[in-house]
Amino acid sequence: MNTLNTTVTSEAEMPEENVVPVQEDKPAETVIEEGKTVGRPFADDAKFKLRNVEVFYGQDRAIKNISLDIARNEVIAFIGPSGCGKSTFLRCLNRMNDSIDICRVKGSLQLDDHDIYDPKRDVVELRARVGMVFQKPNPFPKSIYDNVAYGPRIHGLANRKSDLDEIVENSLRKAGLWDEVKDRLDATATGMSGGQQQRLCIARAIAVSPEVVLMDEPCSALDPIATAKVEELIAELSESYTIVIVTHSMQQAARVSHRTAYFHLGHLVEVNETNKVFTSPEHELTESYITGRFG
Ligand SMILES: Nc1ncnc2c1ncn2[C@@H]1O[C@H](COP(=O)(O)OP(=O)(O)OP(=O)(O)O)[C@@H](O)[C@H]1O
Ligand SMILES: [Mg+2]
Repeated sequence: MNTLNTTVTSEAEMPEENVVPVQEDKPAETVIEEGKTVGRPFADDAKFKLRNVEVFYGQDRAIKNISLDIARNEVIAFIGPSGCGKSTFLRCLNRMNDSIDICRVKGSLQLDDHDIYDPKRDVVELRARVGMVFQKPNPFPKSIYDNVAYGPRIHGLANRKSDLDEIVENSLRKAGLWDEVKDRLDATATGMSGGQQQRLCIARAIAVSPEVVLMDEPCSALDPIATAKVEELIAELSESYTIVIVTHSMQQAARVSHRTAYFHLGHLVEVNETNKVFTSPEHELTESYITGRFG
């Protein structure tokens, strides 16, 4: 015999104090597994093989156990919130960090299967093979001609003036600048517009026939027209060079790169085909970033 006197009360009829407030869904703390990068961080035809890379500034570990391949003739974009280590990691690829006293690089970093950090390596030769374009155009206070001729001269790439002329013209053509400057090659480079200066710096970088061009936010100081020109140039250059570009513009990464690498607090969280990163990222942190939840 059921002696319980049960009354069924609908939620709406319950007195207020009996309503248990539904806990608001808080996102669980996302755990980043150190050294675990989701997606496709490795490539068959690797130009760079980077394994267990760590970078320290004094005691601070800015890069945390990153392993990545960069393929020959690939354009790879590095994205992620400010301070996550994109520039630090980029600078490891041609030992630009060497000039920072407190900076130490650990792990295995190879270019064409040779150790980038081999103490016997000629760093000037390395930087001729792995050129760099910076965020702020930094032409030398010299003529347009001399800016582009600088590298070929110090590396002895031209024996005759006519050879040097040819290198300068070809580099300026590839950088999409020749028609704008061919009648004023003797004019000083610092008198050019910002976008022209940036393309001049690209011409200067490619004048020594590098195999790789590293670009750290190359368009951040440019207007949309100059940006479009640099992006066209990246597409053309990718036929013969390997290009690594750091960018804060996700549209730019989507337009120019084959793969995209997402960095977060010194970790490499995800590397995937660019289209996949922006349409169906595998890692929730990548998704949060590309949907604008942080960064
Ligand atoms: N020269 C330096 N000395 C000490 N710490 C540094 C130095 N350069 C960078 N760091 C530190 O290393 C970490 C990564 O910096 P990095 O400049 O690589 O980030 P980033 O992703 O390029 O950021 P941003 O998008 O703002 O350019 C940051 O915590 C930064 O403070
Ligand atoms: Mg940076």
